[in-house]
Amino acid sequence: MSIEEDAQIIRDALGGSAEVAIVLGSGLAAALGNGFDREAVPYERLKTLPFKPLDGHRGEALVGTWSGRRVLAFSGRVHLYQGFTPQQVTAAVRLAHAAGARALVLTNAAGALNAAYRAGDLMLLADHVNLTGANPLTGSDARNPFVDMNDAYSSRLRAEACMHARHEHRLHDGVYVGLLGPSYETPAEARYLRTIGDAVGMSTVLETIVARSLGMEVLAFSLITNAAGEETAHDEVTRIAGERAPLLAQLIEATLERV
Ligand code: HPA
Repeated sequence: MSIEEDAQIIRDALGGSAEVAIVLGSGLAAALGNGFDREAVPYERLKTLPFKPLDGHRGEALVGTWSGRRVLAFSGRVHLYQGFTPQQVTAAVRLAHAAGARALVLTNAAGALNAAYRAGDLMLLADHVNLTGANPLTGSDARNPFVDMNDAYSSRLRAEACMHARHEHRLHDGVYVGLLGPSYETPAEARYLRTIGDAVGMSTVLETIVARSLGMEVLAFSLITNAAGEETAHDEVTRIAGERAPLLAQLIEATLERV
């Protein structure tokens, strides 16, 4: 099975090329608004997508029209900490690009490093620090692996998202630190990370690198679920994500019109 065959399955389901791809983080499937008229393509049908459910949920691509755009959303992502390679972790981004998407919206659940952030807040990624120790472009046969990472998170799309954020959304603009995981930070690590970023998580950075290498415009949101370095249960992370996902849906929907 080639990526082109998978891309064709997506295009057939969409009735045309994808325009925007969305990757949904832990518990954020509800970030797809009611306005997204979609059908599900299970990952089993997409042979280039690796998938190992973390919590019993099978992965699926959701394809349809939202805010007038042909949207391909990935519900369920794989992580380095599950033992997947950087190539596997970024397979969905390559597939989205092959299916036609030129813009990518990434979402994740993250721990706050910035003391002003509260659980339930949203953060627009302004930049990232990749501390995963991995890069999906190593050994790459891409013509130019030396990808420019200035403005990796589109200032144009960020401005659009901000414009639509109402005051009560508590939307920050910050730096995301990407770690390998899966253990959470020690207090000493959290102190160190506070000097370099505003939120910390275990995804997103590799996907952004691949998207930029393919020339895609990237917008990324973190949903703050806890304070980094404090005791955190995975259940709590997914509960807060589910609670605040509708806000995220509103912001994504408003931004889609401008992509
Ligand atoms: N640390 C790392 N990853 C996370 C956290 C955290 O505190 N919360 C959600 N994802």
